[in-house]
Amino acid sequence: MVAGGDPGVAASATAQDHWSSRFAFVMAAVGSAVGLGNLWRFPAEAGANGGGAFVIFYILCVVLIGLPILLSETLIGRHGQSSAVESAKVVARESGASDGWSALAWVGMLGAFFILTFYSVVAGWVLYYIGVFGTDLIAAIGGGTLFEGAFAGQSVEQVQGHLPSLFADPLMMILLHGAFMGITIYIVARGVTGGIELAATWLMPAFFLLLVGITVYGAFTGAFGQALEFMFAFNPERLLHGPVMLSALGQAFFSLSLGSALMITYGSYASRSTNLAGASTIIASADTSVAIIAGLAIFPIVFAAGLDPALGPTLMFQTLPASFQAMPAGSLIGFLFFVMVFFAALTSSIALLEAPTSWAIHKFGAGRSRTAITLGLIIFSIGMLSALGYNVLSHVRPLAFWPTFAELDILDSIDAITGKILLPLSGLLTAIFIGWIADRKLTDAENGISGGLHLIWRFLIAWLCPIAVSLILILGIFPGLIG
Ligand code: PFF
Repeated sequence: MVAGGDPGVAASATAQDHWSSRFAFVMAAVGSAVGLGNLWRFPAEAGANGGGAFVIFYILCVVLIGLPILLSETLIGRHGQSSAVESAKVVARESGASDGWSALAWVGMLGAFFILTFYSVVAGWVLYYIGVFGTDLIAAIGGGTLFEGAFAGQSVEQVQGHLPSLFADPLMMILLHGAFMGITIYIVARGVTGGIELAATWLMPAFFLLLVGITVYGAFTGAFGQALEFMFAFNPERLLHGPVMLSALGQAFFSLSLGSALMITYGSYASRSTNLAGASTIIASADTSVAIIAGLAIFPIVFAAGLDPALGPTLMFQTLPASFQAMPAGSLIGFLFFVMVFFAALTSSIALLEAPTSWAIHKFGAGRSRTAITLGLIIFSIGMLSALGYNVLSHVRPLAFWPTFAELDILDSIDAITGKILLPLSGLLTAIFIGWIADRKLTDAENGISGGLHLIWRFLIAWLCPIAVSLILILGIFPGLIG
């Protein structure tokens, strides 16, 4: 059943934009979910946490915790028809609850804002590798070695040395971070249909094509069996292992962009005829499939080169480039791989900027372009600390009695604070708000489900989600509590 409702309920002074179709909504939301988190974090986490046990537990987390919260977020946005903060206020007021519940969106929006400061720096590294492989591709075409491995004549150390040499170059780091932010700002400034939707409806299909193409290539030329074994080998003793369960839940949260006000904001542009439960299911399934397929694209290539899939950023930025050295048409496939990562990162960064931009437009009534540029510049400036922490600032102490920037590791610290505290906190507040506080008639009229499914959703959002998310929050703050 698709919920009806009064479209005139919008409480905002600014007319709300809308996606031009359900396809556009789904593509934009999938674009926001599919990002760097799917392409390097998921495969690395799956490999490090016991393969099949992690994957099974991850899927359970997506279905039982991620999906109910995703539906709650899109529901708040669609009902509120305004920015994330205003939408939460509308739902709270109509439920006779305090405006204070808009804190769920505030915390999320703050998370989105700070995530973008480092997300853009990492996306800048992706741009750098597009350049590195692009240059190599031109050389390979010129030298008639297109079907051979990448980086002919370079040692593995030289190939892996591209990352440290980028880190040692502050100007390049800032330029790339700036270029990526510039593209993000440009698209957000062009508006919901003219920018965000247009970018997502072109970039996401292109992304899927590239992903499938590279996976098929890896299946034929790489060590596919070994990759399957690495990702899916089932270790039952890992299934009920605390840290594995915790990282699966944390990863599901990050990957679905939950607790970051993004899905509330994108939900606010959804039309009344969109069935939110159906759309949320497609978004969660697409995001999960991409994460699993990404592992099946990356690991066959790494194993074929006989390399160890070292985890963390080195996997994508050092191990993988070195692996392309040994692969047929390595420069071309490496180039296409990083173009694909760039598309995924861009559609996520657009959403990360849109959440605070939409709030500021409603709050201050300034034009979209001006708002996106101002916020983008502030985010760019804060992000410079992450970028320069690797080089010029590495030995500088922000305050005399503080550690140096290198010791503070701004990028990782912001990643940890946002991922372990802000996102789960916003998700927890959302689950409690929808599960216990919001008017049932209102939420039931929005969610697009009925019967048994509806009962299951109510149970999950009221009980399982708050308990499970509280756990990630507590253990994220006090990691010592878990072995
Ligand atoms: N979900 C995207 C990813 O996995 O890379 C990006 C993202 C958006 C991460 C919002 C975290 C977040 F709060």
